[in-house]
Amino acid sequence: MAKRFQNPKGTRDVLPEEQHYWRRIESVFQRLSDVYGFEKLTLPIFEETSLFQRGVGETTDIVEKEMYTFEDKGGNSMTLRPEFTAGVVRSYIQNGMASLTNPVKVWSTGPVFRYERPQAGRYRQFTQFNVEAFGEIDPALDFEVMSLAWQLYDELQFKNLSFQLNSIGCPVCRPGYLEQLKSYYHKNLHIVCDDCKSRLDKNPLRLLDCKNVQCQPTIQSAPAMKEHLCAECDDHFKTLLGYLDDMKRPYVINPRLVRGLDYYTKTVFEVWAEGIGAQNAVCGGGRYDGLAEMLGGKPTPGIGFAAGLERIVLTMQNQGVEVDPIPGPRVYFAPMGDAAKRASVRLITELRLQGIESVIGFGGRSFKALMREANRRGVRLVCIMGEEEISKNVCQVKDMEGGEQKSISLEEVIPAVKEILSAGS
Ligand code: HAM
Repeated sequence: MAKRFQNPKGTRDVLPEEQHYWRRIESVFQRLSDVYGFEKLTLPIFEETSLFQRGVGETTDIVEKEMYTFEDKGGNSMTLRPEFTAGVVRSYIQNGMASLTNPVKVWSTGPVFRYERPQAGRYRQFTQFNVEAFGEIDPALDFEVMSLAWQLYDELQFKNLSFQLNSIGCPVCRPGYLEQLKSYYHKNLHIVCDDCKSRLDKNPLRLLDCKNVQCQPTIQSAPAMKEHLCAECDDHFKTLLGYLDDMKRPYVINPRLVRGLDYYTKTVFEVWAEGIGAQNAVCGGGRYDGLAEMLGGKPTPGIGFAAGLERIVLTMQNQGVEVDPIPGPRVYFAPMGDAAKRASVRLITELRLQGIESVIGFGGRSFKALMREANRRGVRLVCIMGEEEISKNVCQVKDMEGGEQKSISLEEVIPAVKEILSAGS
């Protein structure tokens, strides 16, 4: 027997019965992007590998372990995007967006790829909705970006959301803090896991992010970046908190929130939702004021976030959020015999041109089989035609709601169907 294929590990087929969640989420994204003044930017799914190495950071888990990297036929190293931000910054620089009116605010959506250990809410191909805003250091922009995230989840009717927030400083204040963090960890080296021992030199900020139970007491008592911010970062953070307080946006200051990508400066945040276990970040983001320069552009501040759509769908399902189904067909054509089929094909083509959702029974099915299909498709009207109807130039239009059936001349079928549908909707 021929081999039956499966989807690759860590990927999902989003079947029609789940699509109404996706459609709802995408429509909320698109509308809110307009409301907040973000314009759409569509980017390639793969980029030069070195863009992510430089942008996301050589010592991050994403670059070290999780990238789908391949050599193309021209011998160039390419990588399926593991996130959007580096590509958006590349495009901002390449397309001279610095000369546009700043802040430049863009949004993108599509699949991203990370070779992670799959589990509920964690996949190797997943979908992000991503926003970025460039060219403005004002903390009011941080608030605006967080506010967009907040409104997104509010409109999707999420319950028990928690905004986790931190500031991880800048090149002025972070090095001094990292020295303190390192010397604290050197004293505690005997009680931390092996991963943390290697993080100590490679990427000390990620020490605070370790999930290993044995490291939690050390993390709890570690010095916090928030206490070591320079005046500019401290002021930036406090101003942002002021906006959040003014607008009564709930947040938790989490000194352990450091994020897994190296480009962040100052504000970092995540949105956690109840109901999807360990993978509870439905969104994550922050400022990256040094990234454009690192990627060869002029110094340009930036801030953004990305939301994972699969996790949003999971949370909506777990929280029992009701979403309207995608409207199915409203009219079913049930022809019996060749002449009836011809007349039905003509009528359904016309009806579809007029935007009425309609389907037809194919093949030479019996009346019983046709009516069974009409029932299963949940249509409002069935247009039945057999030899007798054709000889009289009529069609039987059956209203499945009231059970009433009328004989209507073929010329009148389309206006009659439209009238019944518009009266019933
Ligand atoms: P991130 O936290 O790596 O940030 O990912 C953002 C969101 O993508 C997460 O909160 C989560 O919802 C979703 N996500 C991440 N990994 C997976 C996975 N394996 N399976 C399913 N969903 C996942 C970034 O990607 C940054 N580029 C965000 C950003 C934009 N920062 C500034 N601008």
